[in-house]
Amino acid sequence: MEQIIRVLPDALANQIAAGEVVQRPASVVKELLENSIDAGATEIKLISIQSGKSLIQVIDNGKGMSPIDARLCFERHATSKIKATNDLFNIQTLGFRGEAMASIAAVAQVTLQTKRDEDELGTEIIIEGNEFKGQSAVPMNSGTSISVKNLFFNIPARRNFLKNDSIELQHIIDEFIRVALPNPQIAFQFYHGDRLLYSLPEATLKKRIVQIMGDKVAENIFLVEENTNLIGIHGFVGKPHMAKKKRGDQYLFVNNRFIKDAYLHHAISTAFDGLLPDGTHPSYFLMLTVDPQSIDVNVHPTKTEIKFEHAASLYAILASAVKRGLGQTSVVSQIDFQPSSEFESYIQSVPQQSSVSPPRTSANPDYNPFQNDPSYRYRQEQSAKNWEKLYQVEDIPDEDPIQKALFQAPEKGPKADALAGTNSFFQLHYTYILAQVKSGLLVIDQQAAHERILFESFKGMLHDSGIPRQKCLFPATFEVSKSDALLLEAHINDFIDVGFELEIFGEQSFIVQSVPTLLENHDPIQFFQEFLHLFKEKGAHEVSITTQLAKSMAKSGAVKPGTPLQQEEMSALFDHLFACETPGFSPFGKPTVVTLPLTEIQHKFQP
Ligand SMILES: Nc1ncnc2c1ncn2[C@@H]1O[C@H](COP(=O)(O)OP(=O)(O)OP(=O)(O)O)[C@@H](O)[C@H]1O
Ligand SMILES: [Mg+2]
Repeated sequence: MEQIIRVLPDALANQIAAGEVVQRPASVVKELLENSIDAGATEIKLISIQSGKSLIQVIDNGKGMSPIDARLCFERHATSKIKATNDLFNIQTLGFRGEAMASIAAVAQVTLQTKRDEDELGTEIIIEGNEFKGQSAVPMNSGTSISVKNLFFNIPARRNFLKNDSIELQHIIDEFIRVALPNPQIAFQFYHGDRLLYSLPEATLKKRIVQIMGDKVAENIFLVEENTNLIGIHGFVGKPHMAKKKRGDQYLFVNNRFIKDAYLHHAISTAFDGLLPDGTHPSYFLMLTVDPQSIDVNVHPTKTEIKFEHAASLYAILASAVKRGLGQTSVVSQIDFQPSSEFESYIQSVPQQSSVSPPRTSANPDYNPFQNDPSYRYRQEQSAKNWEKLYQVEDIPDEDPIQKALFQAPEKGPKADALAGTNSFFQLHYTYILAQVKSGLLVIDQQAAHERILFESFKGMLHDSGIPRQKCLFPATFEVSKSDALLLEAHINDFIDVGFELEIFGEQSFIVQSVPTLLENHDPIQFFQEFLHLFKEKGAHEVSITTQLAKSMAKSGAVKPGTPLQQEEMSALFDHLFACETPGFSPFGKPTVVTLPLTEIQHKFQP
């Protein structure tokens, strides 16, 4: 009988296998950089020409290889990193398959130079399309240099398949960043042709993020830190306003390995529930450390997928760690409470007076304009803690001209009466509330702040007990499109839970019979429009229905720009805002507060 099954020649088998590991120049970059890291390098240089199609070279100062290992490393399944099957479940290195060098050598012209510290001379090996061309001794520094020339020179179809140079370069940059970010202790240089694209001296993780992402990122990220038996988490997450329309800066590393994991990504996103502008995604740079025995990395040749033994617990720990970090990064931490040295010396230069009287709020403490606002019940103590620090006023001499100008009521003139005795808040264009804080001037966006307050109190109430409702004197009717009608119908019970009594009135019409007390003075129809808008934009799966509802109610219930506020109302809004869990942002990710540091104001007056 004729034999039709044949064992493929080695070279062909290697080429096929190479397809899995080496898909494009960036794959070579990834494999070579990872090998340098596994070799303990502290300095790594990457050079690429023509987006890696002509040349990719990686030079490191790692431990190098002996002449025998240098030859062996091109054999398939030749690795120094694991020895037995059991080791597969305790992987401490980035590589372990012993495939990368063989795969690269199968599809390119490779020159390897390598030397260990203990050897006097290094070894050079030339290998082209898996064909060994020669080995010789070379003088060199300790470490390894690997040049990969003319990738896919022997598979023209693959070479033609590569994308244009700028796309391939972008892939290389992506891989470079995925290796450089989690290894700030290693110095990297990346030349593309003659251009030095990245020069990254040794740094801390935060500095490395800044080196790569740019200076602006420094003030826009917050620390996330957690240590439990199951997992260590260290890293930084972008504040809500740094969220992007496109998924971009999302870096998750497990035991120093870049991974993609939709489940853990979801955990991080959940922590932002109700904070991100619709359609945007959070940025993060998070390093997770887990017991190597509790994960399986051997899922995919590129090793960007991992199976976790304790996935559900990791999810919960990660979500809560990010949430906590986010809570702590409220405005309180954005503001520099310590006066700068410049400010201190300024104070010292002002002649000291014996009677020092810091401005204080003089609103009637029993007066509560939000009396019917159930949110008033919420977290009174937390409020005190949150804003005391913020609102504290340094002992500043009476003569301080800035104090006078900003916060003391004019002695005569039209405003004198309005401000007399209650000179702690100022409403700008009926839109912003100005208040003094230790480090300067605080500007609150009244609408964004009120949205945050309402959102948190609604969410709290939905969670705890339900929202008290009020029968409408004049029930409102409204009509919507057919699809919107179906959507509203599907959620009719959810609306009841939050205090809306909605009745179907014909195929596309509804009557509002009751509204939550908190919204009794607002147009209920606006709420349903808001709800439909958010729901369609965000999609049912992204955010819980309670969050959607709380957002919609907050949006339609919040005080709008152009609404005059009394001192007491501003004061209550201020207190309520800082009683919130996340006072710094509206539920739609808009900042609620900005500060103008005194030093900046002073600076503007410099001649
Ligand atoms: N830059 C380097 N410095 C020192 N040794 C290296 C270097 N690059 C490769 N090696 C050696 O060559 C071996 C083979 O490398 P290769 O990348 O093919 O496999 P691996 O890293 O073990 O596993 P994987 O295929 O998962 O990357 C490594 O195990 C290592 O011993
Ligand atoms: Mg490797």
